[in-house]
Amino acid sequence: MAKEAGAEVKIFKVQELASQAVIDKNPAWKAHVEATKDIPVITPDDIVEADAIIFSTPTRFGNIAAQMKQFLDTTGGIWFHGKTVNKVVSAMTSAQNAHGGQEATILNLYTSMYHWGAIVVAPGYTDASLFAAGGNPYGTSVSVDQNNQMVGDKEAYQNAVKHQAKRVVTVAEWVKKGMQ
Ligand SMILES: Cc1cc2nc3c(=O)[nH]c(=O)nc-3n(C[C@H](O)[C@H](O)[C@H](O)COP(=O)(O)O)c2cc1C
Repeated sequence: MAKEAGAEVKIFKVQELASQAVIDKNPAWKAHVEATKDIPVITPDDIVEADAIIFSTPTRFGNIAAQMKQFLDTTGGIWFHGKTVNKVVSAMTSAQNAHGGQEATILNLYTSMYHWGAIVVAPGYTDASLFAAGGNPYGTSVSVDQNNQMVGDKEAYQNAVKHQAKRVVTVAEWVKKGMQ
């Protein structure tokens, strides 16, 4: 979707921290690990290279997943050297419940982004698509049922994600041009 907006897009995952034995006990988790096995694990250097980053993390007790936090905690070195400054960032999440911490999760991730000196580009209410996708102004968020299937109108959420991605790319272009 950021590609449609003209960006060169790379997809990364964060390093899994759970043991294979724990993952094997959960069929959905196991299937996810299998489905994403060819996606490269992100490193701090990938952040340095990027103009913009869109994060996505499931909600864990109203907060970001430990795997994501662990990755953020490896960015101390690039932060120290000023390499996280002015990165254009935005975030998305999923949770089982609409009021189970979706907004809090994204805001918790943004807290780290302010420490990075990043430029947080939240969708706000800048497009009608946001209202049809639950109206989370901090970032697109979806609810999933107990079988990990998305609840609601998939197309409505895809439209909100498209808008969020386009907005991130647009602001990243402005920032890049402004810094030249
Ligand atoms: C340890 C743990 C904590 C979770 N905490 C929440 C929560 O606070 N609120 C909520 O709505 N869903 C919560 N969930 C459900 C997940 O957010 C939901 O299943 C997720 O968005 C789908 O991604 P997953 O397959 O990685 O779990 C939790 C799940 C786990 C395993």
